[in-house]
Amino acid sequence: MGCGKTTQSRILAEKLGAVWTKEPGGDEISDEVRRVVQGMKFEIEMDAVCEQYLYAAGRAQTLRRVVKPVLDKAGIVVADRSVFTSMAYQGFGRGLGIERVLKINEEAVDGIWPDLVIWLDTDLETALARTRDSSGDKFERMDKKFFEKVRKGYVEVAKRFPKLVKKVDGNGTIEEVEKRVWKVVQKRYN
Ligand code: TMP
Repeated sequence: MGCGKTTQSRILAEKLGAVWTKEPGGDEISDEVRRVVQGMKFEIEMDAVCEQYLYAAGRAQTLRRVVKPVLDKAGIVVADRSVFTSMAYQGFGRGLGIERVLKINEEAVDGIWPDLVIWLDTDLETALARTRDSSGDKFERMDKKFFEKVRKGYVEVAKRFPKLVKKVDGNGTIEEVEKRVWKVVQKRYN
């Protein structure tokens, strides 16, 4: 959130000649799931387990209908968010824990697993000040404490998947962050 992840993932996709997609989203159905799971239309609080199933449902659609066809043709996909977001947000922010998140997501992901995860680690103040989702994101109403838990979550997730998750400093200009991201990508694939 607010870490420049959408901008950076789009830049990276262009450099790699990859297909860019996002979670939740990527087609009409997963966009609709996005509106339900993180839109602002409900007054009542969504249960964390319900929330996780909805993200997993959107993910099942995006991975099978958008990502898999590209991978099947030996293409590359750059995704703005993934099951790793669920581990941090639902696992730690919402307190479900990594194991439950992985269990709920197992069928949704079904082995369509990223081979590199870039975690753009950005100062909370910077992230909160950056542009907001114009279509609404209920998480933007959450307090600092929630995002501190999410950040702790990313730290734990990076520890658990050290070969996969690479932390990149998300502070600075677009160009500065772009260079850092590219360095990590080159190191991984050269
Ligand atoms: P963003 O990608 O536009 O920042 O919005 C996605 C929002 O949804 C963000 O607040 C994080 C949240 N989210 C989860 O909580 N779990 C997930 O699994 C995903 C993909 C997103």
